[in-house]
Amino acid sequence: EKGGWSSFMAKEINEEPEAVLNTTLGRVHEGVVDIDELAGLDELFARIDRIVVVASGTAAYAGQVGKYAVERWARVPVEVQLSHEFRYSDPIITPETLVVSISQSGETMDTLLAVKYAAEHGAKTLSICNTQGATIPRESDAVVYTHAGPEVAVASTKAFVAQITALYLFGLHLARVRGTLDADAIAAQTEELLAVPAKIRQILETETAEVARLAHWMADSRAILFLGRHVGYPIALEGALKLKELAYIHAEGFAAGELKHGPIALIEPGQPVFVVVPSPRGSETMHSKVVSNIQEIRARGARVIAIAETGDVAVLPFADEVIRIPLAAPFFEPLLAVIPLQVFAMELSSAKGLDVDQPRNLAKSVTVE
Ligand code: BG6
Repeated sequence: EKGGWSSFMAKEINEEPEAVLNTTLGRVHEGVVDIDELAGLDELFARIDRIVVVASGTAAYAGQVGKYAVERWARVPVEVQLSHEFRYSDPIITPETLVVSISQSGETMDTLLAVKYAAEHGAKTLSICNTQGATIPRESDAVVYTHAGPEVAVASTKAFVAQITALYLFGLHLARVRGTLDADAIAAQTEELLAVPAKIRQILETETAEVARLAHWMADSRAILFLGRHVGYPIALEGALKLKELAYIHAEGFAAGELKHGPIALIEPGQPVFVVVPSPRGSETMHSKVVSNIQEIRARGARVIAIAETGDVAVLPFADEVIRIPLAAPFFEPLLAVIPLQVFAMELSSAKGLDVDQPRNLAKSVTVE
C-alpha cells in the first residue's frame, strides 16, 4: 500500500503536487475560476459581510493562510476560529455570515459541532473537505471537496496543501462573483496556482537530501523555533506543529515581528531557528525586516535555517543553512515553504526511530468533543 515508500507520510508528501493539481481540476477554465459546487450561491456571496473559518489543527493553519488571500481578493473580512473555541465564544452570527469549515476527515467532532451551531444561529455553511459524503459536508449548505486522495498518516501533509488550494479557488470564485478582481487579475493568480505542482516537485527533488541531513544533525535538539511573517506566519506555526506531532520536540512558531516583544529572550547559543523568508519581490520592506530578524537572532548565537527563494542572496551572510524554494507570487510561497518543513519533521522522527505514521497519543480523526 505504501507503494515502495518507507512510510505513508513519505508517500503522501510525494503526492502533494497531484493533491494541488487534482483540487484545481474542472474548476479553472482559461483563467476563470468557476466551482460547480458553488453554482446558485451568487446572491449569497454578493451579500455576505463576514466569513468565519472553523477548523482544528493543521486545517486551522490552512485557514489562516487562506484568510490573507480571500480578504485581499474578495474584500470580505475573514476570521479564523479554532472550532472547539467557536461555540463557547458567543460568536456574532447574522444571515450575512458565511461559516467555512475545513476538515480533512469531515468527521472531527469539534468542527462538526461548530458547523451545527453556526447553522442553528442562522449562518450559511460551506465545508472544505477531503472525504466524499462525510458528516460535515452532509451537514453543510455547500461543499468544495479537496482532491488530495485518502490520507493515512496521522500528521496531515497533502491535505494541507489541498485545503489552501481550495481556499484560494474559493477566494477567486468569490472575487469574480463580487466583482472585486478583474478578469486579468484572476487569470494571473490562476496561472500562479497552476504552476505550484511542478514547483513542489522541484523542491522534493532538490532539497530533500539537505533537509534530511539537517534533521539528523538536529535530532537531539530540545527545542526548535520557527519564524514567519504574513502568509509565512501560519507556515511557521504548521512547521512547529509537525515537529511536535512527529518528533516529540518542543517547537513553537512565532510571527517574526513579535520576536522583539518576547521570544528573543529564548535565543541562546546553538538554538536552531527556522525562518520562512518572504520574497523581496513581494514586499521589499517585509523581506528586509525578516533579514534583520535573522541578524538579531544570529548575533545572539542562534543557528539559522532560512527557507528562501532561489536567488535571494541577502540571507547568505547571516543564515547557517539555506533551503531554496522556486520563485512564486507571495500568496503561493506558503504552498512551497511548507514542504521542507514537513520533510524535516518526518526525517527527524525517523532519525529518532519513531513511528512516522502513528505518533503516540494522536488519532487521525478525533470524533469526540
Ligand atoms: C487532529 C489530527 O486530531 O485533527 C490533525 O491529528 C488534523 O492531523 C486535525 O489536522 C483536524 O482533522 P480534520 O480531519 O478535521 O482535518
